Amino acid sequence: MEKIRLGVNIDHIATLRNARNEGYPNILDVTKILKKVKVDSITIHLREDRRHIKDKDVIELKKQNLLPLNLEMAATKEMREICIKTIPQSCCIVPERREELTTEGGLDVKNQMNYLSDFLPELIKKKIKVSLFIDPDLEQIKAAKTLGVQAVELHTGKYSRLHKINKFNSELTRIKNASFFCSELGLKCHAGHGLNFSNVAKIAEIKEIEELNVGHFLISNSLFMGLENTITKFMKIIKHPNYRKIK
Ligand code: PXP
Repeated sequence: MEKIRLGVNIDHIATLRNARNEGYPNILDVTKILKKVKVDSITIHLREDRRHIKDKDVIELKKQNLLPLNLEMAATKEMREICIKTIPQSCCIVPERREELTTEGGLDVKNQMNYLSDFLPELIKKKIKVSLFIDPDLEQIKAAKTLGVQAVELHTGKYSRLHKINKFNSELTRIKNASFFCSELGLKCHAGHGLNFSNVAKIAEIKEIEELNVGHFLISNSLFMGLENTITKFMKIIKHPNYRKIK
């Protein structure tokens, strides 16, 4: 069985850099560490307000070309243009509200079918692997399938919040059912948001989930353990051979 892939979201390295605008920590140096510890891809979210990742970062990361690049972006014409100019290996369409601290919920694919069916083909035509960031909801998955995207990324934010108070079982079941439904439809299934050392194993053991995208925890925990050690420990948890055998 394929091991689950890990994409590391480096937005908050850029947050720290932007606090002083002196050019450090340099995200191009951080990616060398990610390559060394063998993560599978780099994820960045170019937000409309450019609060962390900047346009120049997108260009430089693609040019550096150390690891596959996954560009998270809102479904706007401006972002599509940038994506088509850059041609990252993959792109994840996320909902975006200016005031939010992070991506607070999944994309409402079902109610934006007309818009998305116009918006997505240009990206798909360029052979960029497109995924849609959605809640673990069967109707949203069905809608995503009809749009011809390769994958969906299931939003694990609610699961992560409920995990803190040990009330996560029904949300975990929802994620399991959603990922099983994806595999039945032939859609690749990714997951992410709010994952950390203590809550990730239960997500990583779901064999239909092929990729995790994780950021805030990994970067924060690096203050205590360093980036290399943090990611190495995280990968040990998610790539543990026994996890994926469990149904
Ligand atoms: N996946 C997507 C689509 C996201 O928008 C984010 C947050 O930027 C993540 C994964 C990572 O979430 P976190 O930073 O909480 O690990």
